[in-house]
Amino acid sequence: MNFYVMTLFPEMIMNGLSNSITGRAMQNGQIHLEAVNIRDYTLERHGQVDDYPYGGGAGMVMQAEPIYRTWEAIIKRIGKRPRVIYMTPQGRVFRQSMAEELAKEEDLLFLCGHYEGVDERIIEMIVTDQVSIGDYVLTGGELPAMVMIDCISRLVPGVLNNSASAELESFHENLLEYPQYTRPEEFMGKRVPEILLSGHHANIEAWRRQQSIQRTGERRPDLLEAYHASKQE
Ligand code: ADE
Repeated sequence: MNFYVMTLFPEMIMNGLSNSITGRAMQNGQIHLEAVNIRDYTLERHGQVDDYPYGGGAGMVMQAEPIYRTWEAIIKRIGKRPRVIYMTPQGRVFRQSMAEELAKEEDLLFLCGHYEGVDERIIEMIVTDQVSIGDYVLTGGELPAMVMIDCISRLVPGVLNNSASAELESFHENLLEYPQYTRPEEFMGKRVPEILLSGHHANIEAWRRQQSIQRTGERRPDLLEAYHASKQE
C-alpha cells in the first residue's frame, strides 16, 4: 500500500510513523510512505504558500497553485490518480469501517491543510474525500492524516504479525474488546479472573464475549445498539 502526503510539515509525518509497527511495515516494504512538501512547489519568490482571505477575516488560507502543482507532480510520477483525502473537521467522521474500505486501495493521497484551511477551488478540483477524525479542531491536518495512515496500515495483510488480532479487537462487529491480563496471576492482591486460568477454551470464549457486550453497553451504548441491530438482520 502506498501513502502520499501533501503537507507543509513532512518531517512531522515521517517522524511520527517511522516507529513501532508502521516503521517496521515500511522497512519490510509492506507500506510505502512519502511526505511531499507543498512549499517545494510554490512559484512565489519567498516560498510563500498562503495569503489573506478574500472578504477579510482572521488567519491565512493556503493557496491553490502550490497544492495543485504538488498533486500534479505526484500523479505524473506514479502514473495513477489515487483518491485524494482532505483532512478537515468538516468531513465525514473517520471510523473503522472507513479504514476497512480504504485499505482496499493500492494508493492513497492525503492533503493536510494548515492555518484557516485551503482555497475552496483546490478542494473542488482534486479532492475526492473529505474526512474528519472527530468533532474537535486541531492546528492542522498532519495528525489526522497520521491517525488514518496508522489505522489503515495495520489492516494491510502482513503488517500485524497475527492477522487474527485485527479481527478480534475493538469495533469488530461494533463491540469493544474484552479485558486482557498477563503474568503474574496475582498483582498487589488483584487476581486474574479464574476462568482464564482454566484452559477451557469454549468457556473462555463465552466469558470474553459476555465481557465485550457488557463493556460496550456501559461505555458505548450507541455501539451496542448497532451490534444488536446487526444481529437481528
Ligand atoms: N484539521 C483540523 N482539525 C481536524 C479534524 N478534527 N479532523 C481532520 N482534520 C482536521
